[in-house]
Amino acid sequence: MAAVRTIGVAVSALALLGVATMTSASASPDQGGERHGQQAVPLVLGHRGASGYRPEHTLASYELAARMGADYIEPDLVSTKDGVLVARHEPEIGGTTDVAKHTEFADRKKTKVLDGVTLTGWWTEDFTLAELKTLRAVERIPELRQENTIFNGRYQVPTFQEVIDLRKRLSRELGREIGIYPETKHPTYFRSIGLELEPKLVATLERNGLNRRDAKVFVQSFEVGNLRSLSRKLRVPLIQLTSASGAPYDFVAAGDKRTYADLVTPAGLREVAGYAYGIGPDKNQVIPRDAAGNLAQPTALVGNAHAAGLKVHPYTFRAENNFLPVNFRSSAVPSEYGDLFGELAAFWKAGVDGVFTDNTDIAVASRAETFPRR
Ligand code: G3P
Ligand code: CA
Repeated sequence: MAAVRTIGVAVSALALLGVATMTSASASPDQGGERHGQQAVPLVLGHRGASGYRPEHTLASYELAARMGADYIEPDLVSTKDGVLVARHEPEIGGTTDVAKHTEFADRKKTKVLDGVTLTGWWTEDFTLAELKTLRAVERIPELRQENTIFNGRYQVPTFQEVIDLRKRLSRELGREIGIYPETKHPTYFRSIGLELEPKLVATLERNGLNRRDAKVFVQSFEVGNLRSLSRKLRVPLIQLTSASGAPYDFVAAGDKRTYADLVTPAGLREVAGYAYGIGPDKNQVIPRDAAGNLAQPTALVGNAHAAGLKVHPYTFRAENNFLPVNFRSSAVPSEYGDLFGELAAFWKAGVDGVFTDNTDIAVASRAETFPRR
């Protein structure tokens, strides 16, 4: 998959900011950010939709992100009992749907081990799509996003196909192509229970004419094996997600001692570049925080990734103080908004190629300030 193609021109303003040139593995013009004149700018990736304003992974959340200007909308994918891909952050849905109020499903509550962690709740793989469709989404973090709770109970759990259909309709209406950035969630787990995600993902992209090199699609995973395998089946670019700690679960399951820290060494990044177009690191791997919780100096990750030919799309940029470095907080109240503009400015300057954000509107405005139209 890692065919090399030059898609853009590095310009002096970007160079001054330390922003990467647009030469990279398996790039395509459509996957570049919004174009300001001839200048490609970083991507704004609507994380779980516009999850700062609507319950995550609902059509309403994705639609709002697109309308706010997201380049891509991001569904996390899990499987139902009957093998349908649906958008949820994890198979356990007790915290993101009203399932606990459905007495008819009380006996579905189960304790399971997910990637080595024991969890009790309700699981998508125990529900048919028809059953899942009787549930309604709720806000995951009501203590931080009280406003979002007024939308509780209003939206269904969408299928991947419904997200693709929404993207198609909005692309037509808005006059620009909305990209889609699906993530395979817990692929080893789903394979272990006979509900492999990847064949369904490939088939859905194929069916929708989206398995092509210039489709506005990225496919992401925290695991390595399934991305490597997908790189032989998909023509779209792949993104290797990394975490600030721990290891890909397929490595853990196989007894492979390598960790995410190993993936982001220069040698690790060169290996990733063999099957992926970019990495999606925890933002703290790009700019860590100091002992006081303030944003510190950038690590070498962006430079090393670019040297390996990889793009860098860190996650997750959120406006609430709870998620911000101490020096960008507005108060001690976790739910109040702090200075997300300030945090984003530091990451644009560090040269990232895109950001996953719950607040598309702020990221779009911030990007316009740093990369003005010419
Ligand atoms: O996929 C990018 C980012 O979403 C990874 O974190 O846990 O929000 O899916 P998560
Ligand atoms: Ca995700």
